[in-house]
Formats: sequence, C-alpha cells, structure tokens
Amino acid sequence: MNNFIFQNPTKLVFGKGQIAQLATLIPAEKNIMITYGGGSIFKNGIYDQVKEALKNHNVTEFGGIEPNPEYETLMRCVKECKEKKIDFLLAVGGGSVIDGTKFIATALKWDGEPWDFLEKPLATGDALPLATVLTIPATGSEMNNGSVISRREFKQKLFFFNDACFPQFSILDPTAIYSLPKKQIANGVIDTYIHVVEQYLTYDNKAEVQDYWAEGILKTLLDVAPKLMANQTDYDSCANFMYSATMALNGFIAMGVVTDWATHMIGQELTALHGLDHGVTLAIVYPGVANVMKDDKRAKLTQYAERVFNITEGTDDEKIEKALSMTADFFKSLGVKIRLSDYNIGEDTIEEVARRFADKNFILGENRNITPDKIREILQFVK
Ligand code: NZQ
Ligand code: ZN
Repeated sequence: MNNFIFQNPTKLVFGKGQIAQLATLIPAEKNIMITYGGGSIFKNGIYDQVKEALKNHNVTEFGGIEPNPEYETLMRCVKECKEKKIDFLLAVGGGSVIDGTKFIATALKWDGEPWDFLEKPLATGDALPLATVLTIPATGSEMNNGSVISRREFKQKLFFFNDACFPQFSILDPTAIYSLPKKQIANGVIDTYIHVVEQYLTYDNKAEVQDYWAEGILKTLLDVAPKLMANQTDYDSCANFMYSATMALNGFIAMGVVTDWATHMIGQELTALHGLDHGVTLAIVYPGVANVMKDDKRAKLTQYAERVFNITEGTDDEKIEKALSMTADFFKSLGVKIRLSDYNIGEDTIEEVARRFADKNFILGENRNITPDKIREILQFVK
C-alpha cells in the first residue's frame, strides 16, 4: 500500500425527508444563491422542500445550468452573485449543477480570467462556501473537490480541483431517484461503476480494505441496477445506489492505491466533440481500455473476475474475457449502446482525440504508458 494523507470535510446528511435540515444547516445571516438545472426540481417537489426549509433565509435563485455545465452560463451567475453580494452557494441538482457551482465559487474568489484555472488546474485555492442537495447519484461531486466544465465555443471540456470546493454539507435523499428518467439512472450506474474501476482495476497495490470496498460497491451496483430499472421507487435500492455513488468518488477507495482515469480522460473528449452523456462515453471507452491494457491489469482483472463475478473455472485469460463480456452485457442491459458506430462516430474523431492528447503531451494510465497511439488503438477496439 502506498503512503497517503486523507481528509474529507463534507458532512453527509442522508435519508428520506432530510432536505428539511437545510433550515439549520445554513447560518441564518447568510445571503444564499440557490443554483439549479433545467427545471426537474420544480416537477418532483424538491424545489418546494428547499424553499420551505429556507423560508426564514435570504435566498436568490439562478437556474438553467445545463448538463455538462457551460462556462458562459456560469459566468452569468458569477456576475449576479457579485451584484447581490452572495456569500453562500447552494447547488440543488446533479453533477452538472454541483460542478458548475464549484466553478462559480472558485471564480468569485479568483483574480483574472476564470478559464485560466481550468487550463492550468490548481491543486488548492479559495472559494465561496458551498453545499449541495443531490438529485441524481452518479458523479460523487457531492463529496469531492473536483469539477468538470464545458466551453462549447472551443469544443473543450476541462476539469479542476480545489480543496476549498469540498461541499460543507450534502443532503442525499434517495427519493430524488423516483423522478429520474431511466436513461439518467443508467448513466449514474455506469459512472459510479467506472469510478470504482478506474481506482481498482490497475495493478495490485496490496490494499485489501480498499479492494474489498471497491468490490462491495461493484457488487451492490450489479445487484441494485436491475431492481431500479424495474422499479425505481424501491427505497432501499435507491438508498444503496445513492450511497454507492458517493462512496465511489469521495477519496475512500483511492487511499494508498494508484489510479488510472484513462477512460474518463478519453470519454471527456467524446463529450467535448459530440455532446455525448458522460456515462455513455464511459460505457463505450472502458471495454477498449480493459482489453488493450490487459497485460498491465492482468492480476486485478483476474481478481475482479473471481471476486465480483465468482468466475473460478478456466485460465486467467479465460476468466478475464468472461468478466469483461459480463461487464459489457451489464452496460447493455441498462439500455446503453457501447460502440462508437452506434453514435455515428468514426475515424475522424478517433484521429482528433489522439491528436488532442498528443498536442497536450498527455500520457494516461496507472503506468503512464497510454500514449496517443494507444488511445487510437483503444478507440479502434470500440469502433
Ligand atoms: O437539469 P435538470 O432539469 O435538473 O435535469 C437533469 C439533467 O437533465 C436531470 N435530473 C437530475 N436530477 C433529476 C433529474 N431529472 C429528474 N429527476 C431528478 N431527481 O438529469 C440530467 C442530467 O443531470 P447531470 O447533473 O448532468 O448528471 P450527472 O450527475 O451525471 O452529471 C454529469 C456531469 O458531471 C461531470 C460530468 O463530466 C458531467 O459534466 N462529472 C463530475 C465529476 C466530479 N465533479 O467529480 C466526476 C465525474 O466523472 C464526471 O466527470
Ligand atoms: Zn465519471
């Protein structure tokens, strides 16, 4: 196990009816900006619960943050926050609203052009205090310091980390899942699954607790996903899914291990170029990464086959092949198509993605050996 330092300051407030806790979680004197997305919170009652809980607070609202949050939209909110002297941000939404709010929080304390901290990501910094009411389990943004922002004008999607952007608290009410479109449940399950895989399917780090945690999350997803696709108002399945998503990317399973993130980095370019949902890009790219990088990942892929899918017969290669085919079948069972050609994406994009990584001199993977040529090979595999 590698050395590590771990700290996660986000308070989790979990369960049915917990949105009411907002009344005491945010100090009464705060001047709050509520941020939200395209309006789902008006249809499922979450907006009403938030407003009721904050009826004695001073509240302003900013809506319209789109999936894959857009720089131009967020900059409008930054301007409004300055004008209204906002000193607390409350994101009510999914990863896009939360990430957008982290950007706004950082931009409000940043001297100069905010796009700079995306192009040259900072490790730590300053930010306005923020908190979240999560409405879709997927990204883990509710309990981490990361954010991914899109700028459609430049066909760019970039991430940054800022320790000041850990939410002060996040409210996780699993009943939010009741109103999610099936497509978003599928996206969230796949995103969570791949977050685990990026931190677990690398090489053997001799980190037993982290491995069992990771395997526990994967097994939970394999168990609850079909139940949710059949009945998304089953509270316990919702609760286990929501908790899985948070635990997959709040730093716990990353302690003391190397991480990959190649699937995310390549997937991010597919969203930047074609607007595909984040979860969809991961379902496409991961089978390519796993197969092309199989030699590097052999020990852990075998462990994955044995412990997650209970495959005990055959050679290591046979076990891996079966486990990867079961993984692909799992994604497909959620109604997601997993080939580039299913989205009319061809050779031009494969070349453009490889070129973008070559231009930035980015080498990916836990062994830092996924070169632009390997990226091309990965995308050819999933054509
Ligand atoms: O905008 P509204 O109307 O709210 O509708 C949203 C949106 O259309 C809808 N939705 C959310 N909660 C709902 C609901 N509809 C009905 N009922 C509810 N309870 O779902 C749609 C998708 O929302 P979005 O926030 O975009 O989804 P997600 O949470 O998957 O976030 C994706 C973004 O997060 C980034 C992705 O790249 C992408 O930009 N990520 C952030 C990470 C992080 N900060 O750590 C890590 C991830 O790997 C990821 O990159
Ligand atoms: Zn993700």
